[in-house]
Amino acid sequence: MKKVLKFPFDFYWGTATASHQIEGGQNNDWSVWEKKVAKKLAKNSKKSFKKNPNWQKFQSEAENPDNYISGQACDSWNKFEEDFNIIQFLGLKAYRFSIEWSRIEPEEGKFDEQAIARYKKMITSLRARKIEPFVTLWHWTLPIWLAEKGGTTAIDFPEKFANYAEKLAESFGSEVKFWVTLNEPEIQSSHAYMKGLWPPQKKSILLTIAAIKNLISAHKMAFAVIKRQNKDAQIGVAKHQVAFEMARPTIWNKILKKIADKIWNFYFLDEISEHQDFIGLNHYNRNVINGWYGKNPKKVQTDFGWEFYPESIYQCLVELRKYNKPVYITENGLADAHDDLREEFIRRSLVAIHNAISVGIDVRGYFYWSLLDNFEWDKGYWLKFGLVAVDRETTERKVRDSAYVYKDIVEDGFVENDEK
Ligand code: BGC
Repeated sequence: MKKVLKFPFDFYWGTATASHQIEGGQNNDWSVWEKKVAKKLAKNSKKSFKKNPNWQKFQSEAENPDNYISGQACDSWNKFEEDFNIIQFLGLKAYRFSIEWSRIEPEEGKFDEQAIARYKKMITSLRARKIEPFVTLWHWTLPIWLAEKGGTTAIDFPEKFANYAEKLAESFGSEVKFWVTLNEPEIQSSHAYMKGLWPPQKKSILLTIAAIKNLISAHKMAFAVIKRQNKDAQIGVAKHQVAFEMARPTIWNKILKKIADKIWNFYFLDEISEHQDFIGLNHYNRNVINGWYGKNPKKVQTDFGWEFYPESIYQCLVELRKYNKPVYITENGLADAHDDLREEFIRRSLVAIHNAISVGIDVRGYFYWSLLDNFEWDKGYWLKFGLVAVDRETTERKVRDSAYVYKDIVEDGFVENDEK
């Protein structure tokens, strides 16, 4: 017997992308860095992914230095109308995308009105298709002038970010209601500064803390300036949450969970809790605690080598209850080049989300990551997260089978579950 799980009628069914990953033709801290490290990343790929059972699938791509250079990406800077047609075809009601700061402010204090006009055109074009824009202001990349003075650790980073946010809020006016100031601040800070993997590759705990503190201030200042321009704006952060799950509720496991939750999941949200209208939840992983972290059974793994366990989103949603704010799932998805698992992933994730709604969590939208196969940061192009496959040579788009399944769910407004 199947049970029909109906979603609220005004639920924002959506999908998400980020500027650097899809637009192409960038001139920012990442595009400079990629050229320097591409050969090394290609050479080290086998070692980095030696535990990944899917290695064979992507070895030739991963060992090619070109894979690590964003280059023309999906050419969405030029092909955005085509992307929006696909979003419309899929029946989606919302699209989360990011603005590329380096295009808007290529030189400190000098705003490029043409670039602003292009993003305005995108917003109008989405609205014409009845697709609600969710605008992210910062999805990790930085203008070169800002990176040169320390990026997120620069003393005036919060002020620079607020100026940029104000300029956009003034330009977009009431055309944009939903604003995501920052994408996963702790992922960027930990990769750039704690692990030293991403630009500027400076390993330092002090810089990591400085970056996080600055991002907290940057968010608060941006929140205030956007509200000043548009009092109806709804503003939040896209927060990376991990479901820390205890295998057994021993005292030691409880201590480990408390520490991890506080540092990774709740610190940032607690700091900004008075300065957000909603919580953006980005969710990809659980972390099973059994004497120590990372004891996941990993029965099935995605192309990334991540455990396939869509149900973990339920725990993350329930644990956000204490903030008493609406939640939008601003990212959730998987790398699956052959589209073997995506359909099941989407269904099971939606069942878990529906379960969270049934116990009173105010979930108002779901953005599958990602619309397109795109540039997956230091992994390059071999990981395919897209509802839509993108040919690397021609950038031709092809809607995957799983996207049709998502389309059906969206059009029905419900997902089916096996009755227990
Ligand atoms: C990021 C995306 C990225 C995705 C998959 C998220 O943490 O926001 O930019 O593509 O993870 O790795």
